Amino acid sequence: MSVFSLREVVTYGASQLTESDSAKLDAELLLLHVLKQTRTFLFTHSDTELSQEQYLQFTQLLERRKQGEPVAYIIGQTGFWDLTIKVSPATLIPRGDTESLMDYIVEHFNPKNVLDLGTGTGALALATAKEYPQASVVAVDVIEEAVALAKENAKLNKVTNVEILQSDWFALVPKRRFDLIVSNPPYIDANDHHLGEGDVRYEPKSALVAERHGLADIEKICNQALSFLTEDGCLMVEHGYDQGPHVRAIFSQSGFSNIETHQDLAGRDRFTLGYYPFSFV
Ligand SMILES: C[S@@+](CC[C@H](N)C(=O)[O-])C[C@H]1O[C@@H](n2cnc3c(N)ncnc32)[C@H](O)[C@@H]1O
Repeated sequence: MSVFSLREVVTYGASQLTESDSAKLDAELLLLHVLKQTRTFLFTHSDTELSQEQYLQFTQLLERRKQGEPVAYIIGQTGFWDLTIKVSPATLIPRGDTESLMDYIVEHFNPKNVLDLGTGTGALALATAKEYPQASVVAVDVIEEAVALAKENAKLNKVTNVEILQSDWFALVPKRRFDLIVSNPPYIDANDHHLGEGDVRYEPKSALVAERHGLADIEKICNQALSFLTEDGCLMVEHGYDQGPHVRAIFSQSGFSNIETHQDLAGRDRFTLGYYPFSFV
C-alpha cells in the first residue's frame, strides 16, 4: 500500500526540521538516500508514491536529523568540488567554505607538486589532484582512520596522482619541495560556543580544536613550511572569519612574503596565503 508522493514527503520532512537552515535540501537528500536515486529523480517523479517500507526508512532518517546528526553522516557522503566524498566521524565533513581555496587555486596556480596537510576525507587533495592530473599530490593526516578514508575516496573518485600518508604535520612528509602547500587545519578555540551548535557537535575535536585560541596548529605549519616550499612556492591556510590579522602576523613572523587574506562567498575572511621570501636561506 502506498502512502505519500515524493513531493508530499519532502514537504513534510522539511516542516519537521525546524532547527535546520537547509530543511528542504536535508529532506530531499534523506529521501534520495532511501530511494538510491540522484536529485533529478525528485523533479521528474515528484508524484510517484513511496512504499510503506520506504516511508518508514525515511522517517527513521528524519528522526536522526531532527536530533541534530549531520545529513552527511546519516547518508555517509557529501559533495565537494566535483567529487563524491565518503565521510565518517573520524574527521570533518568537507565544507562549501573550503571550496573558496579551490576557486583561488584554479584561478591563480598551475601547481606541479602539492602538499595537503590535515587532509581528512581527502577533499582538498583529491580536488586538486583531479584538477591537475599532471601534478603529484601528497596528503597527510595524523588520524589513521582519516588516512584510510581519504584513500577510499581517492579510489572512489579514480584519483591516482595522490599519495596519502599518516603524519603529524610535516613529521613524515617526504623530504622534497612543493610549489603549493594547502591546509585546512583545526582552528577553533576549545571554549568557542560554536562547538556546541549544529553539525560540529558530531565532528571530532581532533579536526576542530587547536590550542592558543585556535592558532597553535597554524603556527606549527607556518613555522616549518618554508623548508618544504620551492622558491616560488605558496602556503595557503584556511582559518576562522575573525583570525585573519592573527594569521597574517604568524605568516609574517615565520618569514613569508606577499601575505594576503582572502574571503569566502559570504565575504568573510576565510584563508591566508604567503610566498617563499627571496631572502630565506
Ligand atoms: C578541519 S579538518 C580538515 C579536513 C579536510 N582538509 C577538509 O578540509 O575537509 C582538520 C584535519 O586535520 C587533521 N589533523 C589534526 N591534527 C593534525 C596533525 N598534528 N597532523 C596532521 N593532521 C592533523 C585532523 O585529523 C583533520 O582531519
